[in-house]
Amino acid sequence: MKKRILSAMRPTGRLHIGHYFGALKNWVELQDEFECYYASADWHALTTDYADTKQTQENAFEMLADWLVSGIDPQKSVVFKQSNVFEHSELFLILSMITPLGWLYRCPTYKEQINEIQNKDLSNFGFLGYPVLMAADILLYKADFVPVGEDQLAHLEFTREITRRFNNFYGEVLIEPQAKLTKTAKVPGIDGRKMSKSYGNSILLGEEDDALKVKVQDMFTDPLKIKKNDVGHPEGCVVFAFYSIFNDDFENRCKECKAGAIGCVQCKKNVFENLSAFMKPLAQKRKELLADKSYLEKILKEGNQKASHTAAATMAEIRKALKF
Ligand code: TRP
Repeated sequence: MKKRILSAMRPTGRLHIGHYFGALKNWVELQDEFECYYASADWHALTTDYADTKQTQENAFEMLADWLVSGIDPQKSVVFKQSNVFEHSELFLILSMITPLGWLYRCPTYKEQINEIQNKDLSNFGFLGYPVLMAADILLYKADFVPVGEDQLAHLEFTREITRRFNNFYGEVLIEPQAKLTKTAKVPGIDGRKMSKSYGNSILLGEEDDALKVKVQDMFTDPLKIKKNDVGHPEGCVVFAFYSIFNDDFENRCKECKAGAIGCVQCKKNVFENLSAFMKPLAQKRKELLADKSYLEKILKEGNQKASHTAAATMAEIRKALKF
């Protein structure tokens, strides 16, 4: 029997190349070895974007298209939408009964985002309960592993703690999941900060040549390397980071840069070509997928059914354990 994986992303629109190298590429690779469930966590998106839901449907389609062009295969994995599997809300409610508030208030992601996100009012119950909903996502499928980035580790630890608490009260029903941390390539934004849509520094999946050209042009390089022959410092250089992702001979490039044997113009040209070649097939396929939504709808419908089947079985066990 294959071990089971569950992971999810919040549908907030088009994905960028940081999502691809940071998570999706890994999700794709896991599909053969594991039974994978991949969810569009639209209720999670609602915890912060509750005030305006006009984009919800479109965002879900955009994200699904990006998953598919990246290699997520609905024949292999169950691809579904959280809000279509009502059991997530039922388990969320039950878990909320046994969640000590202190566990939520001391969650580092909560503290961080409450301080950092200024343009939205996050003093709501749903946002505080974010990790509870995430635990419900995972536990419903009795996932053995959850591929997550480091930023989500605290949430996974919360899930493990709430699992023990639940099993302690009601018997060994839920499975304590393990984080599956993967060594992923760190992709900086074009300005050198973390790639993020809100920073306006991202390269989208399926980006076309015109836009790519401008973005590569704008990429930050070593400020001390002005002329081609100047000695460079590739460690902090965005162009070099991208070069390393796409080219096996990056060590050689590093040496050349440090020796002043190659200039930034040449390096940018290479990276543009890399990105362009990588994006072309994605761009084509994503256009086709989004031109006719019926295929995307069909995938979600089938995925929702499969997910519901598993979730319903777990929920039945849970109700029995609670003597409901
Ligand atoms: N919180 C995750 C993120 O922002 C998304 C998510 C929701 C998730 N439910 C999940 C991830 C369950 C893993 C498992 O990236």
